[in-house]
Amino acid sequence: MSALAQARGERHVQAFRGALLHFLGDPDELGEKAHEYFDDGLLVLRDGKVAAAGAASALLPGLPEGAEVTDYSGKLIMPGFVDTHVHYAQTDIIAAYGEQLLEWLERYTFPVERRFSDAVHAREVADFFLADLLRNGTTTALVFTTVHPQSADAFFSAAAARGLRMIAGKVMMDRNCPESLRDTADSAYTDSKALIEKWHGKDRLLYAVTPRFAPTSTERQLDLAGKLLDEHPGVYLQTHVAENRSEVEWVAGLFPWSRSYLDVYDHFGLLRERAVYAHCIHLDETDRRRMGESGAAMSFCPTSNLFLGSGLFDMDAATRHRVRVGIGTDVGGGTSLSMLRTLDEAYKVAQLRGQRLSPMRAFHLATLGSARSLYLDDRIGNFVAGKEADFIVLDLAATPLLERRMANTTGLVERLFVLMMLGDDRTVFATYIMGRRESARPAR
Ligand code: GUN
Ligand code: ZN
Repeated sequence: MSALAQARGERHVQAFRGALLHFLGDPDELGEKAHEYFDDGLLVLRDGKVAAAGAASALLPGLPEGAEVTDYSGKLIMPGFVDTHVHYAQTDIIAAYGEQLLEWLERYTFPVERRFSDAVHAREVADFFLADLLRNGTTTALVFTTVHPQSADAFFSAAAARGLRMIAGKVMMDRNCPESLRDTADSAYTDSKALIEKWHGKDRLLYAVTPRFAPTSTERQLDLAGKLLDEHPGVYLQTHVAENRSEVEWVAGLFPWSRSYLDVYDHFGLLRERAVYAHCIHLDETDRRRMGESGAAMSFCPTSNLFLGSGLFDMDAATRHRVRVGIGTDVGGGTSLSMLRTLDEAYKVAQLRGQRLSPMRAFHLATLGSARSLYLDDRIGNFVAGKEADFIVLDLAATPLLERRMANTTGLVERLFVLMMLGDDRTVFATYIMGRRESARPAR
């Protein structure tokens, strides 16, 4: 758009033509009405937000003169993926051999997180991580940084430079970890408060109070985490719960008064809307009921849960208790930033539990469902008018095998299933942030 047109107050209209898929709700509840699909569709944006999405034949005639039309015929346009649990500081230890959670933390994770006292290193990793996230088609994530406030500053600055909608927070950790990674209950409170004031609501950024997990926080630190949430409505909470059996036993010993691991967080007022709990594997019915009634969300992290040998998430139980569920890659315990690789493993976890994750449900989970678990479904997650236009363009013929298998499908549902089982970063042809192309791969 020309500077002159901008100065005249004209709106910037863009349109993208291709197959279009997005969700209006959960396929489990709404069935066929949960999604909209247009074989020859048009996504129309005005000033970086969705203006309309529908059939190209219906929308093309109404485009204003001078609208930019980009032709992605033959490709699939979807909302950007939403990752509800990931650690940017663990990028350099993804795929570390041989351990389960507690030993993995000691042997690989804590040493690599120590390096984030260096703000220059933190920024370099944040830039790499965000570029790779976009290359994989993920446009929003809920992100752990490290205990160092400068690691959160580096991440937020890198995300702001790209105009991303991201949620992140400084880790709070005042016991049971190496001295060099330890804060105190009071410094964690003060540092988190300063970071909230600096970043929460700046551009598209949001803050999450981030006690690592119950074993590495004193009761006073958990209490102050609750105080931060009370003092700053709209701020998030992220932590881990009930991931690994030895971890669960450890928590029972550290908090002997608690009914369960989840009950520790409940006791300190941390079970609430905008609280996201990673893993949620070894829970009981009371825990799941509390999750459902409190409005907190579970982040299902299949690649991590398999890689660290943690266990099998029970999706059907979460659904029964009407718990908000999102999907998380949990890199570096998880083994891929790709949401397509993650859906593949989610399907296999369900299989091992005798459950089924349908392709419609899986793609809802990766987009609108995860946005809903983050209470962001009024801003991102689908193509309803007014939403922020973060979207991806998928190439369903990105590899020879994918192209060949797609040619042998009959209908959308089967194509989506093949996509989630065989797709990966190569399938993501382009990623757009607020209508601006941020990541693209050369045409094959
Ligand atoms: N529990 C506490 N810290 C971590 C972590 O960094 N990754 C995972 N997967 N679980 C945790
Ligand atoms: Zn994690």
